[in-house]
Amino acid sequence: MSKCVRSTYDQARLEYQHSQKISAQPRLHQRAAEIQAYGTVNHLLPLELEEPVRLEITAQLNQLLADTMTLRDLYKKSHWQVAGPTFYQLHLLFDKHFDEQVELVDSIAERIQLLGGVSIAMAADVAETTQIERPPRGREEVPAQLSRLLDAHQIIIRQNRRLARRASELGDDGTNDLLVSQVLRTNELQVWFLSEHLVNVPLVVADNARAGVA
Ligand SMILES: [Fe+2]
Repeated sequence: MSKCVRSTYDQARLEYQHSQKISAQPRLHQRAAEIQAYGTVNHLLPLELEEPVRLEITAQLNQLLADTMTLRDLYKKSHWQVAGPTFYQLHLLFDKHFDEQVELVDSIAERIQLLGGVSIAMAADVAETTQIERPPRGREEVPAQLSRLLDAHQIIIRQNRRLARRASELGDDGTNDLLVSQVLRTNELQVWFLSEHLVNVPLVVADNARAGVA
């Protein structure tokens, strides 16, 4: 072994020994290469689902995840910024729906990981991916808030139904079950609760004219 090769080898050995040294000192500011790239799936999993199937489903689930995370955040924005006579009930309702969307986000993200994929996670990546229109930073009146939330639900429900059918066709019954039993049902129910707030009925005085009452 030449002198130069030996000194490089010795230096590497010293660095390795230093890195293995037992110490109470936290190892801070560490970085490393990714262990799995976004958009890929692990090759070998005992799920009886072929890699191309898992690739297609995880890609579609990541789109659904980005849109669900956006809707989740739209609910918190609405919860904070709501104004007017229905403030209290909507403040509470928006937060209830937010909590339910948090559950859906976790279920979808963990389904992606379970299938060997990589879940989209950070706000900047979600913002680049979502199909839901970006709202203004400022406050909007209640009908605009409700319409914006309903439009977001519609986008999610449409793609959710399509993906549930596709998962079923490909034999991914677990994804189909998650999308139908949990994601679709929750979104449909939330749409009902929001929509009823956009029905224009009298608040205090009944519409006597329509009933033919003098
Ligand atoms: Fe709150």
